[in-house]
Amino acid sequence: QVKEHINTVQNFEAQSKEAIEAFRIEYLGSKGILKELFTKFKEVPNDQKKDFGQAINELKQKATDKVVQLKASLEDKQEEAGIYGDLTRSGYPTPVGARHPINVVKNQIIDVFSRIGFNVSEGPEIEDDWHNFTALNLPAHHPARDMQDTFFIQTDPDVLLRTHTSSVQVRYMENNQPPIRTISPGRVFRNEAISARAHCIFHQVEGLYIDKNVSFADLKQTLLYFTKEMFGKSEIRLRPSYFPFTEPSAEVDIYWGLETETDYRITKGTGWLEIMGCGMVDPAVLQNCGIDPNEYSGFAFGMGIERIAMLLYQIGDIRMFFENDVRFLKQFSNSL
Ligand code: PHE
Repeated sequence: QVKEHINTVQNFEAQSKEAIEAFRIEYLGSKGILKELFTKFKEVPNDQKKDFGQAINELKQKATDKVVQLKASLEDKQEEAGIYGDLTRSGYPTPVGARHPINVVKNQIIDVFSRIGFNVSEGPEIEDDWHNFTALNLPAHHPARDMQDTFFIQTDPDVLLRTHTSSVQVRYMENNQPPIRTISPGRVFRNEAISARAHCIFHQVEGLYIDKNVSFADLKQTLLYFTKEMFGKSEIRLRPSYFPFTEPSAEVDIYWGLETETDYRITKGTGWLEIMGCGMVDPAVLQNCGIDPNEYSGFAFGMGIERIAMLLYQIGDIRMFFENDVRFLKQFSNSL
């Protein structure tokens, strides 16, 4: 009788977890066949005890092994099904895209400034006259408006595509009191002829720092820190300049040197490259945005992301950023 059980156990096969569990309960469960046999063992005459005992021990071992073995082979099958499960899947690897170089550089700039406490602010690309011009000390008919060839939307001169992200700074000051430390990355638009060096769409990161007793020295140290972190060098010069919203104003050049043909193209052969505009925020602008200029002062700066990406990656033509040529874009697939 026990021999028969051993045979059944050895030949048992199961395809599901449930069937294996049922088998385990039938043989090894607390009311199972083995339990019953062990109970019978006591009634077996002494001269048969040895054979009987050996037989039920063998049965117990075989049943236990069987459960383990069936479970393992079921798991193997499930794993295989997981790997080879979807037979309609393509046999070719799926190509993975790359981050756009403008995003790569934008993220680097954000990273550098966030380490010294700047947050990131954003605003609309379609702006009104106040936020793009008037609040920034550029009243209607101000000649400096010509510096920024503007795209107006429809026939309403109050609706336009922002020409810089200084508009975001205005919005930020209107909604936050100092201390303010914010950078505003974003897309801007200017009605300019497209060439290797200029485009009607490009990207900026503008920065704003407002607190008590902020001076031009703070601005300069921030610029030195930025160029050092971003380019690994901080040989910069500040050239006096003019912006309606800052006073005094300056343009920042970085010394790039002349090594490759691209260097000659992007630095116009002087070795110096203008990378941003900056200055102390004009008190009238603070006033326009609800900040008391008698209590607070601050600096602002603004740079074009394309310009910086061209420098970092030795790209000689700004149009490449907008053509979406995969041969160009995939060169950045190692960048985070
Ligand atoms: N808004 C200026 C531009 O777009 C850049 C700038 C920002 C200059 C802040 C000075 C201060 O050209």
